[in-house]
Amino acid sequence: MELVFVTTNEGKMKEISNLLKGGFQLKSLKDLGFDGEIPEINPTLEENASAKAFYIYERFQVNCFADDTGLEVEYLNNWPGVYSARFAEMEDNIKFASKKELTEANINKLLSLLKGKDSRKARFRTVISLILQGKEIRFEGMVKGEITEEKRGEGGFGYDPVFVPDGYDKTFAEMSLEEKNKISHRAIAFAKLVEFLNSR
Ligand code: IMP
Repeated sequence: MELVFVTTNEGKMKEISNLLKGGFQLKSLKDLGFDGEIPEINPTLEENASAKAFYIYERFQVNCFADDTGLEVEYLNNWPGVYSARFAEMEDNIKFASKKELTEANINKLLSLLKGKDSRKARFRTVISLILQGKEIRFEGMVKGEITEEKRGEGGFGYDPVFVPDGYDKTFAEMSLEEKNKISHRAIAFAKLVEFLNSR
């Protein structure tokens, strides 16, 4: 079965193609000849993942799946959530020159909003929307933890330097990729998707 992963992230593509058993021909957006922008303008991770998958399904009539991830901070009423990638640009109307600067600013904004607060609970949540023959099935992966007071660690990406998963004393950025991938929100969601697909 042909299955399109609606992503431009080659790392994610590689990860999932290694996990799928035979019987699936995993294709990228590039393979479809699609290099447009898919709008991500919905208020929830669920709607965003669905919208991305249906956007491609409606144009190409292919079985496909899309994912969306956000950091949900309890004290901030589950913000930044869908806005995680662009948190620092949101209300302040600033544009950052590079992804690195934006990530830095996102983290600084989060740390300053939580400065001096005892309530630091947060969770990463990944939602995957799979469209098979026009029908949607969703999968979710979640990891709960706390936001640190300062950045720690050099690994990972995004908010990894300020997130300590429950049961650990290291941030995601202080873990090896292998260690993070055993417990991460994305790994859990993808494992559910892969289990579903491999058991068909
Ligand atoms: P995406 O939906 O996978 O593109 O994730 C959206 C945003 O959430 C990213 O740009 C990051 O800011 C944040 N994010 C997602 N996954 C992680 C993670 O594993 N660690 C840290 N930040 C993440």
